[in-house]
Amino acid sequence: MKVLIIGNGGREHAIAYTLKKSPLVTEIHAMPGNPGIATIGTCHNGSVEDLEGILALVEKENIDFTVIGPEVPLCLGLADLLESHGHKVFGPTKHAATLEGSKAFSKDFMARHNIPTAAYKEVNSYDEAVAALKDFSYPVVVKADGLAAGKGVVICEDEAMAVSTLKEMMVDGILDGAGSKVVLEEFLTGFECSLLCFTDGKTIVPMVSAKDHKQIFDGNKGPNTGGMGTVSPNPFLPEGMEDVFEKDILDPFMEGLKKDNMDFRGVVFIGLMIENNKAKVLEYNVRFGDPETQVILLRLESDLFEIMQAVSSQTLDQVDVKWKEDHVACLVLASGGYPGDYEKGIVIHGLDNVKDDIIVFHAGTAFNEKGEVVTNGGRVLNVCALGTSLEDTREKVYQASKDIEFEGKYYRQDIGLN
Ligand SMILES: Nc1ncnc2c1ncn2[C@@H]1O[C@H](COP(=O)(O)OP(=O)(O)O)[C@@H](O)[C@H]1O
Ligand SMILES: [Mg+2]
Repeated sequence: MKVLIIGNGGREHAIAYTLKKSPLVTEIHAMPGNPGIATIGTCHNGSVEDLEGILALVEKENIDFTVIGPEVPLCLGLADLLESHGHKVFGPTKHAATLEGSKAFSKDFMARHNIPTAAYKEVNSYDEAVAALKDFSYPVVVKADGLAAGKGVVICEDEAMAVSTLKEMMVDGILDGAGSKVVLEEFLTGFECSLLCFTDGKTIVPMVSAKDHKQIFDGNKGPNTGGMGTVSPNPFLPEGMEDVFEKDILDPFMEGLKKDNMDFRGVVFIGLMIENNKAKVLEYNVRFGDPETQVILLRLESDLFEIMQAVSSQTLDQVDVKWKEDHVACLVLASGGYPGDYEKGIVIHGLDNVKDDIIVFHAGTAFNEKGEVVTNGGRVLNVCALGTSLEDTREKVYQASKDIEFEGKYYRQDIGLN
């Protein structure tokens, strides 16, 4: 089988690496891919938003199965387009992807299907938003409705901050169209965790837990990033939460999909806030998380391609999804200055020096004219290792991170600890 992966991050490299292990997969293709994926497959130029271009590539290369990594093409309807031309796809339809593409749509879904979540109000104009603030206490959470690449949620400490945030989003248009509608939300306390699941719309299979580290500095300090590292299993998850997740979160989600006639075949990533052993949904994402996927897929014992095929053909109930007992850590090596301004094009040394038990996924890398691998993004590389314990896997990734050098290299020291 020829498989095409849409996307170019560490997530997509991890998917490519895992699919490559399947005896059913003969060729890996990626669009646009990255230098890491290029070592195991063929990368094709193009934009993940160019749906017609992707369809043409699928037909030209006789691709048997397409895996869609990022949310943007899913929300634009790539799965629908490919399927309408008879091509097999892993990833939800445009309708189902709206669970991520519109915060108001997903809150409405949660409310109608009795899924625990923060109290909220959808507002469609600046005046309406300011008037609605009286129904909330502070801090209040202001969420732009549309996709905003992680920049659409602001926790506002007081009314002045809420009003100025609403003005920026709804009047000044700093997020373009994404902020023309807003969700105001009650602020929840507790600790956050995410739950990734395979679903074919009939059956839902939770994956093993993972803990991410969003802030740039040790001790969870400083501004948020796309994610500075992950460990699996999540050492902070209280015992017995699986049953709570199933009953309170997953069962009503599946009921909701059925009642709304929503065709969801892919991964649902559920962002949760947990307090007193109760979970509330913060958001749905309709694809694998990055860098959660890197650690989760390294623990997958079963054949990922078999799972993906079963999801696509709605036979997930016939697959036994098995996981390894190992602990896994993923350490993100970032460009100095990230998540603010940083330089690109810095040559990376030592990628060939890493030991055999280390897996390095590429995220923000590119080839320069000389064919050298250079930095090309904020989050550059994901250094991963399996181990017998959290300490063991941490030791391996921190040791290996010293073997890889580029000017300005930055990473957190406390992945898995805080
Ligand atoms: N109701 C809430 N109460 C407290 N914190 C929240 C709430 N909603 C979101 N957050 C915080 O904001 C972050 C981003 O919100 P989320 O809904 O996940 O949006 P996105 O990932 O699309 O930016 C969350 O990870 C969480 O830290
Ligand atoms: Mg989120």
